[in-house]
Amino acid sequence: MELFPVYALNDITIVRASGARVFDPEGTQYLDFYGGHAVISIGHGNPVWKKRITDQLEKISFYSNSIHMPIQRELAHKLGKVSGKTDYSLFLCNSGAEANENAFKLASFHTNRKKIVAFKKAFHGRTSLAVSATDNPALVAPVNATDNVTFLPFNDVEALDTYFLKHGADTAAVIIEGIQGVGGIHVATAAFLRAIRTACDRSGAVYIADGIQCGHGRSGHFFSHDHAGTPGAPCNADLYTMAKGMGNGFPVAGVLIHPKFQPKVGMLGTTFGGNPLACAAALGVLEVMEQDQLMVRVRENGKYLWDGLAKIPGLLNLRGMGLMLGFDLPEERKDLRTRLLREYRIFTGEAKPNTVRLLPALNITRAEIDELLSALRTVSAS
Ligand SMILES: Cc1ncc(COP(=O)(O)O)c(C=O)c1O
Repeated sequence: MELFPVYALNDITIVRASGARVFDPEGTQYLDFYGGHAVISIGHGNPVWKKRITDQLEKISFYSNSIHMPIQRELAHKLGKVSGKTDYSLFLCNSGAEANENAFKLASFHTNRKKIVAFKKAFHGRTSLAVSATDNPALVAPVNATDNVTFLPFNDVEALDTYFLKHGADTAAVIIEGIQGVGGIHVATAAFLRAIRTACDRSGAVYIADGIQCGHGRSGHFFSHDHAGTPGAPCNADLYTMAKGMGNGFPVAGVLIHPKFQPKVGMLGTTFGGNPLACAAALGVLEVMEQDQLMVRVRENGKYLWDGLAKIPGLLNLRGMGLMLGFDLPEERKDLRTRLLREYRIFTGEAKPNTVRLLPALNITRAEIDELLSALRTVSAS
C-alpha cells in the first residue's frame, strides 16, 4: 500500500528534533521558523513535556469518557488560569476542525438558528461545517456546500453592521481568526472584534474566536482576540477554539465555553478527546508556558524579530503580532523561501501567493532570531 498523496512535499526527510532544530537522516540540521505549521509551541522534544507524557504512559494511556479522569479537570483548571478565562468550561477533542465543528454545534443548539458569518480568506478546517466556513471553494466538496454560511469582508465594521441589521435575528454565530493564518497573516483590528461582540450581544448570536493558529500565547496574549479588550473592559468571545500549539505536536484540541451555555448529557462527544496522554501533553505545554513566562518572552522577542525584519529592504507589508509575523515578497524575490531552506536550512511557512509566514516556537532565542535575520539580509540582497 502507498500513501494517498494529498500534500505538497519538500524533498526533505526529518527523523529527529530538539528545541528549534530538526535533523535529517544524515544529521543535517534545519532551523525551524515554521513549527510544523504553528504546532510546536514550547520547542521540539521539550523535556518537561516529554516527562509529563512518559509518566502518564506508565499509569494509563486511554480509557473512554465514561469514567472520571482527574487529569482532565487538572487541565481545565490550568487552562482557565493561564488563559485568564477561569469561569469558562472546557470540552476536549482532537483537532482544530473538530473544535470548530463542536463550536458551531454549540452555537446552533444555543440559539436554535442555522446561519453562520465567516470572513473572506478565513480558514477554519476541512470537516463538514468548518470547511463550509473556509473561504476556499477548492476545499469544499459538493456535499459540504451550504447556503448557511455568509462570507463578509474582513475588518469592515460597516459591512458587518449592515449585515446584522438585516440578518442578525437568523444568525447563530460569527467565527473569526484573531490573526488569519492560512489567509496570509491579517490581524483583526480591535475595533472590528469589538463590533462583532456588540453585534452578537444585540442579536443573540454567538461570537466564536478561532484561536487554533493564533492562540496559545503566540500573539503575546493567550488568545490573539484578547487584544481588543482592556483590563477594565475585556472583549471576550463566547467560545474559543484551540488545537495546534496546545499539545506541542500531541494531537489535542478544545473548546472553551462561556457559562451561559447549558450542557446536556450527550450533546457533544468523542472517543479519543481528552484521553490522559493528550491531557498530559497539554498540561506540559501550560506548565512550561507558566514557568518560563513565555507570553512575556513572545512580546519581547516578537518585537525584536519585527524590528529586525523591518530593517531588511525588500520585505513588504510586514504584519502580525508576537511570534506570528508575515511579509510579502516582490515578484523578483519570490524564491526567497526556497533559498532559505536550500542554502541556509531554515524552514518558514507560506501563504499564497507570495507571503512568508513566521511561526517559531514561543521560546525561540535571540540567537536563533539573529540567524534567521542574517540569512534574510543576505538572500534579500543577492
Ligand atoms: C485558524 C485555523 N482553524 C482551524 C484549523 C484546522 O485545524 P486542524 O488541521 O487541526 O483540523 C487550522 C489549521 O491550519 C487553522 O489554521
